[in-house]
Amino acid sequence: MKHSVREAYDLWAESYDSMSNVTRDLDALLLRQDLDCEELGQVLELGCGTGKNTRWLQERGTVPGLDFSDPMMEVCRRAAPAATLKQADIRQAWPVDDDCFDGVVVSLVLEHVEDLEHIAAESARVLRKGGWVRISELHPCQQARGKSAHFCRDSQRIEPEVFLHTRREFAGAFECFGFVLQKEHEAHSEALGSGSLPRLLVMTSPSESPRFEAAALRSERWESAASESGLTAPV
Ligand SMILES: C[S@@+](CC[C@H](N)C(=O)[O-])C[C@H]1O[C@@H](n2cnc3c(N)ncnc32)[C@H](O)[C@@H]1O
Repeated sequence: MKHSVREAYDLWAESYDSMSNVTRDLDALLLRQDLDCEELGQVLELGCGTGKNTRWLQERGTVPGLDFSDPMMEVCRRAAPAATLKQADIRQAWPVDDDCFDGVVVSLVLEHVEDLEHIAAESARVLRKGGWVRISELHPCQQARGKSAHFCRDSQRIEPEVFLHTRREFAGAFECFGFVLQKEHEAHSEALGSGSLPRLLVMTSPSESPRFEAAALRSERWESAASESGLTAPV
């Protein structure tokens, strides 16, 4: 059953952390590897959800979180009591000042947002010079196979609305606002075994960098795995 994104997450909040979810767990693992340092500075977390990453980020910096689902944020408040959470729809202007963040973190949210350029424009507005954005999303090839965020409740499958964004669209939207793709990683889940298609697409962009490493970092594995399974690459 299709639901508006907000309605679906309002219903999902109570079981989101306890349900088995390979994508959620892989993102948690990779975020901790990628951002492992003592001091992250001021980080804005978009779609903080139930706080899977919020508390960890909070221990390394100051982390306001934005989300539009009150029930998800209620769980987050228990998980990360020190975090400042604001209810906001990230498709609209973000309720934060210009030039005040070192980083923007967004995990498993942008599949629900059609207009990536708005997210890039707002990121450029709120970041200090040299700030960075880390995006981690269900890989487009998984979406092309019909996978998307969903859960079951009272024997009903509940699916928040999703949009398919290719890796070119993610990178392109941010490049329009002066970001340069620095690192891209197509992550596989060990839980699903070797040979599985990549589960997550993780991109990090600093707003200032002479380098463009996307081509070099683009994984060959995805293309070979996709051709073996007869998929058209949504890249
Ligand atoms: C799959 S959960 C991910 C939560 C968390 N980032 C994580 O990795 O566990 C997606 C979250 O994004 C939020 N979200 C989706 N669209 C949003 C929007 N337009 N504005 C604010 N929050 C949004 C949902 O309410 C939900 O909490």
